[in-house]
Amino acid sequence: MNRETRLVKVSSPGKIILSGEHSVVYGEPAIVASIDKRLHLSLSGSRSDINVIPQNAEYFVRQAMILIKDYFGTPSHIGFNIEINSQIPIGCGMGSSAAFSVALSAAFFKLINQRLDLKKVNEIAYLIEKKHHGNPSGVDNTISTYGGLLWFRKESESFYTYSQIKLKRRLPRVFIFNTGKPEESTKEIVKTVADLYKKNPKKTGKIIKKMGIVTKDFLKYLMEEDDVILSQLIKDNEMLLEDLSVVSKDTEELIRRIEKIGGSAKISGAGGIKNGSGILLLYHPKPAKLMSFFRQKNIKIEEIKLGTKGVKVE
Ligand code: MEV
Repeated sequence: MNRETRLVKVSSPGKIILSGEHSVVYGEPAIVASIDKRLHLSLSGSRSDINVIPQNAEYFVRQAMILIKDYFGTPSHIGFNIEINSQIPIGCGMGSSAAFSVALSAAFFKLINQRLDLKKVNEIAYLIEKKHHGNPSGVDNTISTYGGLLWFRKESESFYTYSQIKLKRRLPRVFIFNTGKPEESTKEIVKTVADLYKKNPKKTGKIIKKMGIVTKDFLKYLMEEDDVILSQLIKDNEMLLEDLSVVSKDTEELIRRIEKIGGSAKISGAGGIKNGSGILLLYHPKPAKLMSFFRQKNIKIEEIKLGTKGVKVE
């Protein structure tokens, strides 16, 4: 089939950060899992322009395509129909934009009949993410590319390391609840932390280092190397995120109530300062207690599957 009629379909997963958001921007490790919510994207047809469904994604697609064509050195007149269907809520910390960047990069490889090179897909997706988020760590695009459960670390601007975590224990049941789309963008929240760092380097540096320690303890929990209690790790991570001022008052209050019934919760992703703080990762050693807590409030929480497949051609 030539490019004139080619239909390319790909999908890529969203993510949950189990430990280490924000500190990962400063070179500390993060543990991140792909989830069972995916973005589906199809490219088809031959046109000299780009037709986008849904239309409100058009700006994002065009910006990304400038970078992709530049990367491949392809003529600027290559066009197509593009259709995007996503199960990942936008701007809530679940990696919706990275899933898009990864899926579009992967689809373009197929469109121009090249073998899918995941390293390059991730590289291009990172360029797109940088265009939109200023100074991202690259954790979101990396998990969406490779999937699974990753230990990720940004060592320098252009060098990162990651490793699939081979679990020694079964992952616990975890749930999510969306506190609402933050008023601030990820870029703005990351900048708030950077400003805090500039204003108060000693205190902020200490918080970030402590986050790194919590993430290392989280790894020990997953590897069953130490007697670490998961609830405590999530609590500690959340407290440190609150110290960075990336969690709204309402969300903090809700989390305190979850802790009172023996559970724990943390924001996952950049957070949100004024109102919504995006998605919350919820854990309780007795999941029924968590479910009944939310049921009493008439709120539905969702169980989430971790460690799903990375980007794939459908
Ligand atoms: C990632 O989802 C959230 C932040 O850690 C930013 C980043 O790593 O690029 C806050």
